[in-house]
Amino acid sequence: MTLRHDRGFDLEGRLRKREQRDLRRDLAPVDRVGARARTAPDPQGDPPAFDDEALVFAANNYLGLASDERVAAAAAEAASEVGTGAGASRLIVGDTPVHRSLERALADEKSTERALAFSSGYAANAGTITALDPDVVFSDRLNHASIIDGVRLSGADVEVYDHCDPGALREAMASRGSASDPDTDGTGADKSWLVVTDSVFSMDGTVAPLERLCEVTEEYGAWLMVDDAHATAVHPGGIVGERGLADRVEVQLGTLSKALGAQGGFVAGSEPLVEHLLNAARSFVFSTGLAPPAAAAAERALELAPERRDQLQANTERLRTGLETAGYEVWGESHILPVLVRDREAALALDERLRERGIVAPAIRPPTVPDGTSRVRLAPQATHTEAEIDRAVAAFKAAGEAVGLL
Ligand SMILES: Cc1ncc(COP(=O)(O)O)c(C=O)c1O
Repeated sequence: MTLRHDRGFDLEGRLRKREQRDLRRDLAPVDRVGARARTAPDPQGDPPAFDDEALVFAANNYLGLASDERVAAAAAEAASEVGTGAGASRLIVGDTPVHRSLERALADEKSTERALAFSSGYAANAGTITALDPDVVFSDRLNHASIIDGVRLSGADVEVYDHCDPGALREAMASRGSASDPDTDGTGADKSWLVVTDSVFSMDGTVAPLERLCEVTEEYGAWLMVDDAHATAVHPGGIVGERGLADRVEVQLGTLSKALGAQGGFVAGSEPLVEHLLNAARSFVFSTGLAPPAAAAAERALELAPERRDQLQANTERLRTGLETAGYEVWGESHILPVLVRDREAALALDERLRERGIVAPAIRPPTVPDGTSRVRLAPQATHTEAEIDRAVAAFKAAGEAVGLL
């Protein structure tokens, strides 16, 4: 469709500029969510024309629970018993038994007094940071966009510290004195300082050194907020819980949309924290409550997660070993495996050759990642079979040889 008049918006010009800078994105249709799916090479097709089934290594559905029948049954039951949508904000008439039940389960999972569900992880980050209204935020350089946007919205001063570097955090904090120094703002009141970090970083597969971040945060009288989105349900209690840090992390954030295979986000923490957020987080207050089927699906998935964790771990190890044996450099220390290619064009060529071999694994390139670190990001699922993992490794080997990487 041609725009009737573009006024000053010049959307077509802006799209062209994105294209020139290699920033134009497109939809990526699939026929279903799971470890296997048929993909459509032409996203504009209506309806999309799907190719043969491929193995998906590009989703965050790590435990494969988005297509589990027991999870689907829980969602269906909530849809028919409670409603397909919440119909209102939780503060009006949108607070149903499935929301309460999910939040109790999340608080138990995270070893906190309470939890609060948002309609997405993005809304949880943006709403929480803004509602906390910190004076200063200390933020890991590679934090997720929803954290960055939350910090911007909050209007706080920001100190960005080097990725996963507690020494750099300490330096940044030292340069500002101390949050609990009564003289720092001349009013005699404490400053509110917030350190915020992802636990597992989605493009690098790295894991934040949480114990050391806790130490530095405590030393300077600040609060620590950990976005455990990629570790929720993959590890018992997330990375925070698995490392026994629930008492030292004031704000635990997670999403229902990745390993829990549903949709939504949540914050877990103290009673006053949750009471404050349900009053002051605008993305909670002024948004319809999480859809009941999503809440029920997430709660059922949380119960089922333990039976899938070992398989995800085994698949991750098999894939990493296979790729390294084939001659690839694989980064990270989690279930997210970035395969380093370095050159941008080579990463795109590898992505394409893999697709031809029935493997979906996206090339990640600048400006998403720094120059010279283009990569293909692989996320195995617990529902991939051993034979499928081996098929992916064989495809990487053949594709790497075809592109001249191996
Ligand atoms: C670290 C992190 N936090 C938050 C989010 C946002 O979660 P959601 O997809 O539920 O909005 C994501 C998802 O991409 C993420 O990777």
